[in-house]
Amino acid sequence: MGIRTHSCGQIRESDIGATVTLNGWVNAFRGHGSGLIFVDMRDRDGITQVVFDSEDAPAELIEAGDRLRNEDCISVTGVVRERAKKNDKIPTGSIEVLASELQVLSKTKKLPFVPSDEKNLPAEETRLKYRYLDLRRADMQKILKTRHRLTKLTRDYFDEHGFLEIETPMLCRSTPEGARDFLVPSRQQEGMWYALPQSPQLFKQILMIAGCDRYLQIVRCFRDEDPRADRQAEFTQIDLELAFVDRDAVLEIMEGFAKKIWKEIMGVELGEFPRMTFQEAMDTYGSDRPDTRFELKLVDVSEIAGKTDFGVFQNALGLNKGCVKAFRVPGVAEKFSRKVTDGFSKFAEDFGAGGIPTTKYVNGGFEGGIGKFLGDVQDELVAALGLEDGDAVVFAADTYGVVSRSLGELRLKIAKDFDLIPEGMWNFLWVYDFPMFEYVEDAGRYHALHHPFTAPSDYEVERLLSADAKDIDMVESIVSDGYDMICNGSEIGGGSIRIHRADVQAKVFELLGLSEEEAKLKFSFLMDALSYGAPPHGGIAFGLDRLVMHMCGTENIREVIAFPKTMTGQDLMCEAPNVVDDEQLDELHVRSTATVSS
Ligand code: AMO
Repeated sequence: MGIRTHSCGQIRESDIGATVTLNGWVNAFRGHGSGLIFVDMRDRDGITQVVFDSEDAPAELIEAGDRLRNEDCISVTGVVRERAKKNDKIPTGSIEVLASELQVLSKTKKLPFVPSDEKNLPAEETRLKYRYLDLRRADMQKILKTRHRLTKLTRDYFDEHGFLEIETPMLCRSTPEGARDFLVPSRQQEGMWYALPQSPQLFKQILMIAGCDRYLQIVRCFRDEDPRADRQAEFTQIDLELAFVDRDAVLEIMEGFAKKIWKEIMGVELGEFPRMTFQEAMDTYGSDRPDTRFELKLVDVSEIAGKTDFGVFQNALGLNKGCVKAFRVPGVAEKFSRKVTDGFSKFAEDFGAGGIPTTKYVNGGFEGGIGKFLGDVQDELVAALGLEDGDAVVFAADTYGVVSRSLGELRLKIAKDFDLIPEGMWNFLWVYDFPMFEYVEDAGRYHALHHPFTAPSDYEVERLLSADAKDIDMVESIVSDGYDMICNGSEIGGGSIRIHRADVQAKVFELLGLSEEEAKLKFSFLMDALSYGAPPHGGIAFGLDRLVMHMCGTENIREVIAFPKTMTGQDLMCEAPNVVDDEQLDELHVRSTATVSS
C-alpha cells in the first residue's frame, strides 16, 4: 500500500507541485460518471479534496474512482495543485490533489448510516452499535482529542506539583462510597467475592500512611447505579491525595489545576473561585451544587407568610421545620399562564411538593394565582423579594427539605425554560462546611454526607467524640472538613480532609451504626494502618467525564466516553453483559437463578 506522506488535514498552498500520498476514508464524492470526479478524503486530522480527471488519468483510474463510495478506505497518490473554487471553511481549502494512483485498501459494505451526514444521524442505539463508524465523525474525534489533552495536562500539572501516579487494584473489597458494588466471584477462594472499586478511597489514604506524600491516578471507578445524563456505572476519576495539608492547601492546588486546564483547553482565564458554605447554598439555591450563573435566589418569607390567611402557608408553618420560601422571576409575568404554572406543580411533585403557588406583580399589585391572599403583606413581600413591575413570583410551602429541593430544581427549570442562563459563562465555586451526618428517617440511622473517612472540622473533634447518637439535632450539626468543586451547577469534584486518628474513625463508625465487630471485619486494615503513625492528609477526586462534558458542551455523558453503556447498562457494540457457559459458572462456584441461560 502507498504509505501516506501527509495527513488529510495537513497540505497547504506551500505544497503545490509536490507529489503526495494520502490514506483515509471517502467522506463525500461527486461527479460520478462525468469524467471529473471529486472525492473528499478524510482522516482524524481533516479533509482534502482529491480529483480524478479523465483528461489527465487513464480510463481504469477514472473507473476505479467512479466505484468509490462513502467510507471506503483508500490510498491516493497525486500532485498538489491550486484549487479553482476555494473553500475557506477548511484549512486545506485552497488546494486539491490530482490523483494519479488509487488503491482501495478496504471496501465498505452497505452503511447503517453515513458518518459525514451529521444532519441525519440515526438513533443513539445505532450509533452505539456501530461505534467505530460513529467515532469517525469529526465531532467525536474532537471529543477524544480533548479528553486526551485533559489527561496529558493533568499528568503534567500534578507532576510539576510533586504527585506520583500510582495504580491501585481493580479487584478489591468494597469501599462504602454509597452505591451498589459490581461483584466478581473468586475461582480460587470458594464462595468469596471481589468488588470492583467505587473509588480508590482507602488505597489512596493507605498510600499517604505509606509515606507516598502526593498521589495521582486517572482511574476507572465502578458503581452499580442507574445511569443519568451525567452519571455512568463505569466512569473515570482524576483521583488525588496529599499528606501534611489542611483544607486551604488542597483547595489552592486544585483550584490551580482547574484554572490551568480551562486556560489551556478553553482559552479562558478563570478568576478566584468563590467559597460558599453548604448552609448558604441550601438556603439560597436549594442545592449543594448551586448554579450561580443566574439569580432566582430563594428568600425565606415564612414570617411574612405567617401574617396571611392562606391555608397552605399556615399548614406548612405548623410542620416540624416548616417554612415558606419564594423567588422572583424578573420580567416574565406575561408568560406565566395557567398552563405554565400548573406545569410547575406537576414538576415539583417528584420532589415532594403538594403544589407550587405563584402570582404576578403587575401595575403595582399582585394579580392571579394566590395574589388574592397576599393583599395585606404586599409591601413586605415586594421589599423582601425586590419585586419590580412585570415580575412573577414562585413559592413553596412545606418542610425545609421539601421546599429546598423543589424550589432548587424549579429555579433550574425556569432558568432554562425562560432563557435566563447567560451563554458562554463559566461559574466555578467551592462548597464547604458540609454536615458530617444526615439522619435517614426510613432507615432509622445516619449516613455520611461525603463518606465515612471524612474528618470533622478541627473545632468539631471534641464535640464529635462526645456525641450521643440519640441526639439527632446535635449529630446533624457537626460540620465536616469536606468540599466540592462546582462548575455551572454540576459537581465536578468532591473531597475532604480525612480522619487520621483511629479513635475519631472508630467514633464515626459507631455513629454510622457499624458495630465494633463489623468495623473490624470491614476496616481492620484501615484501623491498623491509622495506628501506625498516620500523617494528616486530604484529597479530592474530579469526574474526568464531567470535565470533558463541560469542555465540549455536551449534555450527555455517553458522548464523551469512547465505548459507553446505555441507560440499561449495555454495551451495544460487543453485546455485554451476556450469558456465560455453565462450566464457567461452576468453576467460579456460582449458580445462576436467572431464567435467561446460555
Ligand atoms: P465522589 O463520590 O464525590 O467522591 O466522586 C468524585 C467525583 O466523581 C464524579 N462522579 C461521577 N461521574 C460520572 N458518573 C458517576 N457515576 C460518578 N460518580 C461520581 C463526580 C464527583 O464529584 N473517593 C471520593 C473522593 C475523595 O473524597 O477524594 C469520591 O469518590 O464529578
